[in-house]
Amino acid sequence: MKIVSVVGARPQFVKLAPIHKAARAAGVEHVIVHTGQHYDPMLSDVFFEDLGIDAPDVHLGVGSGSHGVQTGAMLAALDAVLDEHRPDWVLVYGDTNSTVAAALSAVKMHIPVAHLEAGLRSFNRRMPEEHNRVLTDHAADLLLAPTQVAADHLAHEGLVERTELVGDVMTDVLFEVRDQVSTQPPALLGELGLEERGFYVATIHRAENTDDGGRLAEVVGSLAGLDKPVVLLAHPRVVAKAAAHGVELTQGSLIAHSPLAYPELIAAALCSAGVVTDSGGLQKEAFLLGVPCTTVRTETEWVETVQLGWNVLANTAAEIAAGVTRPRPTPTDAAPYGDGHAAARVIEVLSRHAR
Ligand code: UD1
Repeated sequence: MKIVSVVGARPQFVKLAPIHKAARAAGVEHVIVHTGQHYDPMLSDVFFEDLGIDAPDVHLGVGSGSHGVQTGAMLAALDAVLDEHRPDWVLVYGDTNSTVAAALSAVKMHIPVAHLEAGLRSFNRRMPEEHNRVLTDHAADLLLAPTQVAADHLAHEGLVERTELVGDVMTDVLFEVRDQVSTQPPALLGELGLEERGFYVATIHRAENTDDGGRLAEVVGSLAGLDKPVVLLAHPRVVAKAAAHGVELTQGSLIAHSPLAYPELIAAALCSAGVVTDSGGLQKEAFLLGVPCTTVRTETEWVETVQLGWNVLANTAAEIAAGVTRPRPTPTDAAPYGDGHAAARVIEVLSRHAR
């Protein structure tokens, strides 16, 4: 069997790592195509290096742009690549512009396409990620759902026959990395003079929190007013938007810091007092690490984290402050994100369904 994985943005490299490992273990030919959506070394190269992923076989070098320009450039470049490789499966990941571009290219060339992390929904039609998820799920031939909730969404949309519940591959990689980093304190503590459990880890990068200057100032101001130092691991998007809107990212409790490599991020989250984020992945990582999370959004795709009490949605400054200072949630044995062996299941399901 031959699989072409198309990835382009940071969270996709994390999901690629366990798939790459499982493909290798099963003797499956695995070709990696990087669209170039993320190109800063800290958003791209370090993930390949730290997580033991081979360098991409093909790099499209698409870079940044408006949604249409970026997605269109990927689409135009992918046709020739997929035609050359003619794999048994094109595997697309998550909900970025790279995901929808690859799904569309593959389906139009009649190459089977599987969507990893299928069925997630925010039901917020203003989010680019929601467009990407819905379009990808309805284009794909095989839908690899991470959770029962995601599988149920697909069933409601008439896609039950294409759905396989495989678990969440992010659990696979997270557990492995957690075990590697849990023995020593993260470098971040010494670098910033922080104490274990004496700080929060924050990431803010979504369009709805960064594009509008007033909204960005509100979110930044609320983090700056928290009761402990807040390390903002600043994605280039928030740095660019803050500069454009004249918002200071280091102020009050808030300390802007460059993004961290994956093992360092996990180590930092693990010894923090809590996580404040608008990232999808980090909400779930916090849950799996047993760290309370406050999510700066009006809804989440990872509803299990909220239902189990480890995540709260917060939008105003008062809600964010109440979220981070709430009492520690009750520990839970629930494992909605699988057992850490999802990637092997993905390879098995792809083999079973290969034509
Ligand atoms: C993308 C995904 C988002 C995901 C996030 C993870 C889409 C629609 N969004 O958002 O779902 O959570 O990745 O990080 O695909 N930039 C750089 N260097 C880079 C990449 C981006 O400076 O390597 C800057 C550019 O100013 C660019 C902006 O960030 O215009 C936005 O980048 P883009 O890839 O369009 O979306 P993200 O915000 O990264």
